[in-house]
Amino acid sequence: MANSHLLIGRKMKNNFDAIKISDRVYWVGAIDNEIRDLHGFNTSRGTTYNAYLILGEKPILIDTVKAPFFSEMMARISSIIEPEKISYIISNHAEMDHSGCLLPTIEIIKPEKVFASKMGIQALKAHFHKRLDLTEIKHGEKFTLGDANFTCVETPMLHWPDSMFTYFANDGVLFSQDGFGMHLATYKILAQQNERVIMRYESMKYFANILMPCSSIVAKLLDLLSSFGFDIKILAPDHGPIWNNPSDINWIMGLWRKWVEQKPTEKVVILYDTMWNSTAKMADVIADGVMTENTPVKVMPLSVSHRSDIATELLESGALVAGSPTINRQIFPTTADVLCYLKGLKPKNLIGQAFGSYGWDGEAIKILQEELKIIGIKLFDNPVKTNYIPDNNCLADCKTLGQNIARKLKNGS
Ligand code: FEO
Repeated sequence: MANSHLLIGRKMKNNFDAIKISDRVYWVGAIDNEIRDLHGFNTSRGTTYNAYLILGEKPILIDTVKAPFFSEMMARISSIIEPEKISYIISNHAEMDHSGCLLPTIEIIKPEKVFASKMGIQALKAHFHKRLDLTEIKHGEKFTLGDANFTCVETPMLHWPDSMFTYFANDGVLFSQDGFGMHLATYKILAQQNERVIMRYESMKYFANILMPCSSIVAKLLDLLSSFGFDIKILAPDHGPIWNNPSDINWIMGLWRKWVEQKPTEKVVILYDTMWNSTAKMADVIADGVMTENTPVKVMPLSVSHRSDIATELLESGALVAGSPTINRQIFPTTADVLCYLKGLKPKNLIGQAFGSYGWDGEAIKILQEELKIIGIKLFDNPVKTNYIPDNNCLADCKTLGQNIARKLKNGS
């Protein structure tokens, strides 16, 4: 079995290459152009799974890749070193996009040791249910492997209990697993080679959908990293481009500092679904009311808007207005989906309100309001509902709701 894995690695040797990112560190990851869903996150630009190889007296592999990309990773490793020469593996995160091929990798490399955090060891054993010889490294521990010097920074709940960063002092590289990453399939492995506007959106999307519920933990981590006093020359996440100069590192860390605060902006997000266009019409007029106040507004019909894009828009907004018709005494299933998702993400500092149409009962408004309150959204002004088709009075109320919310945000919610 080991030989067949090795064969795969060698066979692919000429097809994929390692990319040097510092004196001793090489990117040996994989690019996934096809993925469009990662546990509910719509990865509309694909992603990368970044693994890293450190050369030296005792070569070290940092993380692996998602299982189907094992051959690609092995080929990149094989382009510069025989995989069996790797002495150690450090597993910074147990989630399967980084540990999915850990077992076959161990089988080929036969490393002297595989390192993980205490929780990482538990998580890896719970995934693989095999006898694994894993060595624990502890928060703040400085350790030397051959001529490579490291410090471990455990980052529990960023975003799994096992998560940790590893700082490679020789080259000033902080391997940050999911931290400071984004889902972006790119052949430009360095951040500076990529379009800033795309990186900003994808970083924001990543933060909103993965880190938003852990914002207070992220804030503490950012302070903790400062306290370690690392000389970070390269910030190497497990997804997306690598931050390899001071201005890019400051840029992404500055954005994270901004996002943990979730200070409300003047932007209003309106989400809705509709049956016979009544709730859609109400959404349009609420948006028009916001617009007349010269306030930014994003209208997100659920027929064409994914929950993870809605979460992204909310990260830099100040209000969420949610609309649904009543169907079988409930809210529309699409609306329930996104509100359930937002209950988990817990966006902070938002105001909001509900609107929608109904035929005979009209329970949707009350359900929407309750859901918004559970998310943590402060209800403002009055809901608007209409029986069947909105008349001019109803549409005037919609316009007023939009204007009132916009004015409230301008004056500070
Ligand atoms: Fe990219 Fe939490 O795994």
